[in-house]
Amino acid sequence: MDLEALLPDVVSWARAAGAIQLSYFRTDRLDTRAKLNDADIVTAADAACENFLTAQITEAFPAHTLLSEESGERSGESRQWRWVVDPLDGTTNFNAGLPLFSVSIALQRDGETVLGVVYAPRLDELFTAVKGGGAFLNGRPVHVADEDRLTRMVVATGFPVDKATDPDNNLDNVARVMPHVRGLRRLGSAAIDMCYVAAGFLDAYWEMNLHLWDVAAAELIVAEAGGVARRFRPDSPSRNVCMLAASPKAMPQIEAFIK
Ligand code: IPD
Ligand code: CA
Ligand code: CA
Repeated sequence: MDLEALLPDVVSWARAAGAIQLSYFRTDRLDTRAKLNDADIVTAADAACENFLTAQITEAFPAHTLLSEESGERSGESRQWRWVVDPLDGTTNFNAGLPLFSVSIALQRDGETVLGVVYAPRLDELFTAVKGGGAFLNGRPVHVADEDRLTRMVVATGFPVDKATDPDNNLDNVARVMPHVRGLRRLGSAAIDMCYVAAGFLDAYWEMNLHLWDVAAAELIVAEAGGVARRFRPDSPSRNVCMLAASPKAMPQIEAFIK
């Protein structure tokens, strides 16, 4: 498969999904529903984007496997190739009328992401990477931050949707990190958080209880930008995917605080 040749098609799908998001943004057509609880929501825009992307991917690659957040996994003849899609990452922001939300599309070969696209339509920021080819923001190469002093670093995190019922909710990590850094942010889209590490806008980002669709595309974008995207807590199944993404200079300093 020629991944560089495939990238423009995936970018066009991401841009079209972004246009669908914007057609719902700040309207009264969101039809918001709670999933696990009131902190875990889905809107009509999530479903519309997922339907659109599923149709594009299955038409272009009917044999491929497809994992998407709202529909789960649809196994294709090929287990080798799998698409991993978050149709709308940052639904809490989107639903509140805040501009940080995105669509995330990854293509994996044998479980490893080889192509990743994250598009934030309200910001018109498009992050792309093909394995071995570098990472790009709106077509320009990006690289992780070079800062080595913890006191000058700006970092981001997030909190799990079951934060009210499970005390393992990241507040302990926040308390350890926050006094030592220039700033700590909660942006609300894991895919954007990680792409901002890739672009050097953030020095580091961590979060627990994520899922593969939140991180699959951005993991490659971080790595291709010279960063490190590392899973932590492999022994905490209830915390699902725990992600720490950072520049090489920030990684050991932030990692020392995170449990
Ligand atoms: C969420 C966002 C958020 C993170 C949550 C995710 P969603 O994804 O990435 O930043 O804190 O854990 O579930 O639900 O908006 O696709
Ligand atoms: Ca998500
Ligand atoms: Ca989502």
